[in-house]
Amino acid sequence: MKISFQLNGEQAELQIPGDTTLLGALREHLGVYSVKHGCETGECGACTVLLDGAPVNACVMLAAQAHGRSLQTVEGLGEHPELGWRTTAGLHPLQQAFVATGAIQCGFCTPAMLLAALALLRRQPNPSEAEVRQALSGVLCRCTGYLKPVQAILRAAAVLRGEAVERIDGRIPAPPDLFAGPEADAPAAGRPAAGPELATRTSVMPQIRVAPETEGWQSVGKPEVKVDALKLAQGKPAFAADLEMRGMLVAKVLHSPYAHARIRSIDVTEARALPGVAAVLTWQDIPRVVYSTAGQSDPIPGPLDTFSLDSKLRFVGDRVALVAAETEQIAEKALRLIQVEYEPLPAVLDPGQAMAEGAPRIHDEPEYVNFAESDPTRNLAAEIHVDIGDVERGFQEADLVVEGTYAVPKVQQTSIEPHVVITYWDEDDRLVIRTSTQVPFHVRRQLAPVLGLPLKRIRVIKPRIGGGFGGKQEVLIEDVAAHLTIATGRPVRFEYTRAEEFGASRSRHPMRFRMKTGLLRDGTITANEMHCLSDTGAYGCHALTVAGNTGHKSMALYVGDGAYRKSPNLRFHADVVYTNTPPSGAYRGYGVPQGFWAVERHMETIARRLGLDPIAFRLKNAVRAGELQPFSTSWSEGREPRPETIHTCGLEECAQQGAAAIGWAGKYSDPQWHQVKGSPHLRRGIGVALVMQGTAIPYLDMGGASIKINEDGSFNLLVGATDLGTGSDTVLAQQAAEVLGVPLEDILIYSSDTDFTPFDKGAYASSTTYISGAAVVKAAEQVAERIRIRAVRMLAKEPGDPVLPEQIRLAERRAWAPDGRSVSLSEVALNALHHEDQEQIMGVGSYVSPVAPPPFAAQFAQVVVDVQTGAVTVEQLVMAVDSGIIVNPLTASGQIEGGMAQALGYAVCEEMVYDQDGRPRELDFRDYHIFAAQEMPDLQTLFVETFEPSHPFGVKAVAEIPMDGVAPAVGNAVLDACGAAVNEAPITPERLWRALRAAGQVDGSPS
Ligand code: FES
Ligand code: FES
Repeated sequence: MKISFQLNGEQAELQIPGDTTLLGALREHLGVYSVKHGCETGECGACTVLLDGAPVNACVMLAAQAHGRSLQTVEGLGEHPELGWRTTAGLHPLQQAFVATGAIQCGFCTPAMLLAALALLRRQPNPSEAEVRQALSGVLCRCTGYLKPVQAILRAAAVLRGEAVERIDGRIPAPPDLFAGPEADAPAAGRPAAGPELATRTSVMPQIRVAPETEGWQSVGKPEVKVDALKLAQGKPAFAADLEMRGMLVAKVLHSPYAHARIRSIDVTEARALPGVAAVLTWQDIPRVVYSTAGQSDPIPGPLDTFSLDSKLRFVGDRVALVAAETEQIAEKALRLIQVEYEPLPAVLDPGQAMAEGAPRIHDEPEYVNFAESDPTRNLAAEIHVDIGDVERGFQEADLVVEGTYAVPKVQQTSIEPHVVITYWDEDDRLVIRTSTQVPFHVRRQLAPVLGLPLKRIRVIKPRIGGGFGGKQEVLIEDVAAHLTIATGRPVRFEYTRAEEFGASRSRHPMRFRMKTGLLRDGTITANEMHCLSDTGAYGCHALTVAGNTGHKSMALYVGDGAYRKSPNLRFHADVVYTNTPPSGAYRGYGVPQGFWAVERHMETIARRLGLDPIAFRLKNAVRAGELQPFSTSWSEGREPRPETIHTCGLEECAQQGAAAIGWAGKYSDPQWHQVKGSPHLRRGIGVALVMQGTAIPYLDMGGASIKINEDGSFNLLVGATDLGTGSDTVLAQQAAEVLGVPLEDILIYSSDTDFTPFDKGAYASSTTYISGAAVVKAAEQVAERIRIRAVRMLAKEPGDPVLPEQIRLAERRAWAPDGRSVSLSEVALNALHHEDQEQIMGVGSYVSPVAPPPFAAQFAQVVVDVQTGAVTVEQLVMAVDSGIIVNPLTASGQIEGGMAQALGYAVCEEMVYDQDGRPRELDFRDYHIFAAQEMPDLQTLFVETFEPSHPFGVKAVAEIPMDGVAPAVGNAVLDACGAAVNEAPITPERLWRALRAAGQVDGSPS
């Protein structure tokens, strides 16, 4: 059919099939790539456009419904401020505000948020925060926690009203008076109060206790604008799916309807005969190569137990066949024409039964490759036994022993951009894989044997990524498109639907715990033991390493006190079992959030039983600077452990400052505060959890970087590191800028392409700022040294005393001698490239760390509990974090806010459940609820800087630690509010209602 509409003020005409969605018409027919695909059911809002000025979801509208109407997308909003000789009015104030405030992380939701905000501001120029949050309620963001987007919209509204707004580019205030409590009169640093000339304030900067070592730094420590913010605010085609190629096919996968089955026969004759079908592949058509989908360094620390296609199916959603066709509709029709005769097998869905005698065996393939303690005959993907000190003696010496059981569910990363890949042969017959991945170099290495190609014939390109959170630390779908490109010779695009994301991608390992802790009456821990049963699902991706980190980080925090502190007694045992459910994998925190749910709920129980202050009890037993990370002596991701000393620990100050910020002292022990006036069914509670993480994987994971100078004194920085939206490109460039004495805009960073950028293990284990950052600094120092040597030669031609290279200071784009003489970097570059003794000034750095310095944090939560219904409302989350030096306060606090928002779902609502046949209950954002803007509590981030000596700028990790403490802090706050202990997350109304009933707080029985 033929339709026409106004698109951003221009007339658009289309000849399309009548069932084309508006999303499909805009992206595939008109190249409007700012409109994103995040689901197919109108729930994520990524496809938001303005139809006659009102926001609508383009994925659930037919294009025909737009006929004769007016559409606006972000392509029609603002312009680039300068392009060559042509200058324009520049960005719209909304775009400017999103860029300036750090409201853009991955940027996948940004165009939708901008349009929702635009519609709001047109009808309400002076909105309240609640109105802004309501306007954003239809756009889900998994990265930001919504704080900065909301602030950005309030700021833009102020600009549009003609009001002044404050700058967000100042240096971080110095100590000592930063951390006044909430009652203090003075405004907290980074949160300027509204003055008479400033009617709207922007609360996007965290409070920071600044380390003195940062004095005089120019770029590191500044709230620099993200280097990719501009293009993301403009909705430019930066993501994996934003690429059109002539003759590109669409891939689809036939998924198993059975949790456990064999394929008796499969007939694809009809599907192959369907016009428009280019290829149909089954397990009989491709080489049988066993591998692991876990994106990890060589050798993979886990079993090899996966095939691209197999004749045995191990979960509902496992792959049966692959199709490539001219259109999505034809590919889907072809799937329905594939005839499969299945032989259903008994399935095991419960991890507790997986190792039982007679349980169905999930992996019986002869190609299975064992790693460490895996034993497929017992459905055991991994087994861990760590014993430190003498645990039994510790229990014997205890005055009391406290035991408890705890459980956490399977939850999913749910990046708003689904997994998506495009593959094609280039002109040299090399296979190009353009994919949304956290691990491009692992994708190349791990897929080469699977595809039957030498590694050198594969090139992996990582464009912008719409969030990953560990879900893309997996070689999950690249092989599907690659097999089909090999089969057809044509480009292939494969993108998961949201239902496939839920049913056939990865998730966080669900775990069950038994805790046992020995204590003296004064609260000294004499021994601590955790047993963990982890469910890896049908395949053992990340099975060993996730469970290992559960113990390695969470059980390492409490070592005991006195003599026990010198020689802690700790035990961690884990069984990681296969079940016929979708595989688990890596998810931000990597096993540690699971462990801290058990440890911190258990510590709360102990503190209350002993009548001790929960913060003082924890700090008494917590590990301190100068002590060994106790697990470093016994376990290291399946490799040889090497002892590591913790050099910096700001935990005690985090606890103090976080407590002050939330007003702990005035709330925790005040019975009045726990009442809600006029609402006897409501109770208030406050809770705490202390947590630690790691920074990278020592002696294993490597990051690389190269830097070269250009004639204008700018630099190309190439890194293999992958920015998932976290801002890592920005903080890496900031570190280069600091060494080279240039503003951030002079560092042109590119990441990552396996053909052009140096190797990097990828984005995981909270390692990029630390590992890749150290590599960048090494490369930059090599460049700086060459610049200094050449500058000395150039300055020698001018009158003045001779100078040595080490006396040259790089700052303000110049090389300075102590006496004030200087040459610009542009002059140095021209001299090097064109004039004298020519050379390309260039540096290459790589870095592997011998340590994994832990960041620490104190997480606080305030809740209101309805004791009649079991409903929990989280009112406030405060997190005080020691992540070493904060390279960029905007991006770092964005990580904390977004992490807390994800962890909040873990606390109260997110959970993946399967029926008795192994079919998933959650297949869309209706059933799997993630927090929306209008549902969020108040979020506050504090940084307590310490200078980590193992890094040139003193940094530690920031990305994962916000996942660790929210759930137990909320659980502890619920206990504080109503006395009910919910030891299984999430704390749903039903679970709390049952716990309240068990605690004698409510009557009746469930309906
Ligand atoms: S609401 Fe349309 S893509 Fe999700
Ligand atoms: S910035 Fe919102 S989904 Fe990533």
